[in-house]
Amino acid sequence: MSIATPVVSVEAQGACIPLLGLGTWELRGRACTRVVEQAFRLGYRHVDTAEIYENEREVGEGLRASGIKRGEVFITTKIWPTHYAPRELERAARDCLVRLRLSEVDLLLLHWPNPQIPLSETLGALCKVKRDGLARNIGLSNFTVALIEEALRATSEPLVCDQIECHPFLDQSKVIAACRRHDMAVVAYSPIARGNARDDELLQRIGAAHKKTAAQVCLRFLVQQNIVVIPRTSKVERLSENAAIFDFALSEDEMAQIAGLARPGGRLIDWAFSGRPQWD
Ligand SMILES: NC(=O)c1ccc[n+]([C@@H]2O[C@H](COP(=O)([O-])OP(=O)(O)OC[C@H]3O[C@@H](n4cnc5c(N)ncnc54)[C@H](OP(=O)(O)O)[C@@H]3O)[C@@H](O)[C@H]2O)c1
Repeated sequence: MSIATPVVSVEAQGACIPLLGLGTWELRGRACTRVVEQAFRLGYRHVDTAEIYENEREVGEGLRASGIKRGEVFITTKIWPTHYAPRELERAARDCLVRLRLSEVDLLLLHWPNPQIPLSETLGALCKVKRDGLARNIGLSNFTVALIEEALRATSEPLVCDQIECHPFLDQSKVIAACRRHDMAVVAYSPIARGNARDDELLQRIGAAHKKTAAQVCLRFLVQQNIVVIPRTSKVERLSENAAIFDFALSEDEMAQIAGLARPGGRLIDWAFSGRPQWD
């Protein structure tokens, strides 16, 4: 990148997902378009949006403004759980593409599980959307170990990832292990703990030893485990900071110390849709 960084990817079920993406939750309007454009210009090749973020139009505009060819970037969007009835899901997926002004996305996710609609029906519709060419890959988000297993039994197409809250303050080892067992990628959302990583003393101390910031150490901790990260920033200057995570390595001891930051109550994003799931 101007960040002089090669695009490093993780492979899962035939999908090739860039390890670094740009998160876009809460980015809106022209500010969103500008950050997405700048990110692509700087070398990001992966962006994460969702129909619920109400910014797919701006994400698409940012991509076109950057001048980067469609084939060089990886675009993820997500279907909101109120749209999981089969016909609704297909319509919602088409609406995403209209807003993005794309003929297909690279990855289409179920945003949260929805216990009110049989998972087999929702997955049937998601698989059809893929077969119809609207999404190159499909996957899950916020699925527990038990729900991943249920989804895998019900799907006729590969599920390439589970996108989950993942940062050093939260122990996600069980979901990560389940993904690894099934050759699914782990995509970490809120990878810098919604900005909280910046103030952590251990991350700061380790960062000082590598001439890196606490946020960079936090992201490095994840990518060093082959976990895809999608940090979000509204500030163009932070795009480069969050991308400069491929030119240093954490020692085994540093990785273990950072893993020790996990604590009960470390979860930041609450179950948004219908009651709290059993996470383990
Ligand atoms: N699937 C899901 O259910 C789900 C849920 C949540 C999020 N996501 C996805 O994951 C993405 C990332 O998660 P997130 O937005 O919750 O949180 P995040 O990326 O962990 O943190 C974003 C916050 O950190 C700040 N920040 C960014 N870079 C920084 C740096 N280098 N130093 C210090 N602070 C920094 C940002 O502020 P500034 O803007 O001021 O830089 C912002 O307040 C989302 O945008 C979304 O695409 C998915």
